[in-house]
Amino acid sequence: MPAPNIDTIVSLAKRRGFVFPSSEVYGGLGSAWDYGPLGVELCNNVKQAWWRWLVYERDDVEGIDSSIILNRLVWKYSGHEATFNDWLIDCRKCKGRFRADKIVDNKCPSCGASDWTEARPFNTMLQTKLGAVADDDPTALAYLRPETAQGIFINFLNVQTAMRRKLPFGIAQVGKSFRNEVTPGNFILRTREFEQMEMEYFVSPTAEHSKLVDYWVEQYLEWFGSLGIDRENLYLYEVPKEELAHYSKRTVDIMYRYFPEREKPWEELMGIAWRTDFDLSIHSKNKVDEEGKRINPDSTEDLSYFDEPTKQRFYPHVIEPAAGVNRTVLAVLMDAYSEKTNDKGETRVILKLSPQLAPIKAAILPLAKNKPEIVGMAKAIKRSLQPVLRAVYDDTGGIGKLYARQDEIGTPFCITVDHQSLEDEAVTVRNRDTWEQERIKVSELAEHLQKRLKPYPVAPPETI
Ligand code: GAP
Repeated sequence: MPAPNIDTIVSLAKRRGFVFPSSEVYGGLGSAWDYGPLGVELCNNVKQAWWRWLVYERDDVEGIDSSIILNRLVWKYSGHEATFNDWLIDCRKCKGRFRADKIVDNKCPSCGASDWTEARPFNTMLQTKLGAVADDDPTALAYLRPETAQGIFINFLNVQTAMRRKLPFGIAQVGKSFRNEVTPGNFILRTREFEQMEMEYFVSPTAEHSKLVDYWVEQYLEWFGSLGIDRENLYLYEVPKEELAHYSKRTVDIMYRYFPEREKPWEELMGIAWRTDFDLSIHSKNKVDEEGKRINPDSTEDLSYFDEPTKQRFYPHVIEPAAGVNRTVLAVLMDAYSEKTNDKGETRVILKLSPQLAPIKAAILPLAKNKPEIVGMAKAIKRSLQPVLRAVYDDTGGIGKLYARQDEIGTPFCITVDHQSLEDEAVTVRNRDTWEQERIKVSELAEHLQKRLKPYPVAPPETI
């Protein structure tokens, strides 16, 4: 049973230190969120799982970390300055402002009227100014990147030559992106500052691009499964031609059931797009249009690729799986949410996070906090586990309460130190999901836990 709605997660997230509303002491900042002690661990674990899966476990992907602020010309030629727009309309009655494509039945979502202004484009790139310049100096204008992808394209040649790569190969990047969303909302689903995990997979212009889109869709379905997301809660949306981004010939969105309580429960978790050779050619100095005119007179590089076997030079095509960290975290939290009733008839929340994602892997709990030998042994066990996994020590309540607290934040194992531990050098290890307990020797504890914390195996990638 996943979470019944996003609000259930919002309240758990705040109560237990995953996500807080940002700038709360000043009344908040619309749709901005801060990740707390457990939230930052969960985000890091998602990003690390992704990086390990793509960059370490495959042989055909490199990683980079490019700047957030790039030369403005990147956004001119990528098409974002001209086309990265939302269409805005205002309600003449209540003065509310909305995205035109989100209006249902031509009715204002605030007041129900149908009296609209003309729709007009609104560029959603966040602007800033570089250097100590006058407010109106147009040459100082810069943007916070709206996607991490462009930082990859402009580094294609650097990576390819430095790492002596041959096609096909991918470049992965994870980092912050910014969009001046007209209607942010639904917790961390749509915010103006968010994180992306993007990979540009470069292939020959004669590759079977549509099949490669399907291949990456399958790979990601498998990966989301390894994070504990049920396949039943994912849905594939073939983006219709008229809705495709300016660079895409085909896009499949993987949607997640973020709104189980609604008639239309799906929202985008990620997209997998065939971006053609649009980006590499548009940033290249040698590419010309039908009349022989350079399409990019500002570029100083040619981002083409020489294919040794065919002795041909071309601009590689790109298959792009683009996922959001925050949307993955929200899907993971919603899918992990469950409730269980104990012997006393009390309902407990259990966050059945995949062990690799759990913010805390083991909680060490002394059964008697007034017994210095037990406390000492529990703290020593915590310290001995620290170098290999994230462990915490807690003695701030009775054992039932301590278990319940750890269940609610998804800690896979609770380790109890009791009187008998002093005699037999063993502890009780309690499993979060089954509540079953087993007695384990302290000397074997680290290995016992590590074995059970191993990531769920993802099938090895098929060769492309
Ligand atoms: N480079 C292609 C690209 O950026 P996108 O579909 O616009 O494609 C990719 O974004 C992913 O980034 C989305 O599927 C979503 O997970 C995440 N994302 C986009 N805008 C977001 C926002 N305002 N808040 C949170 N996540 C967002």
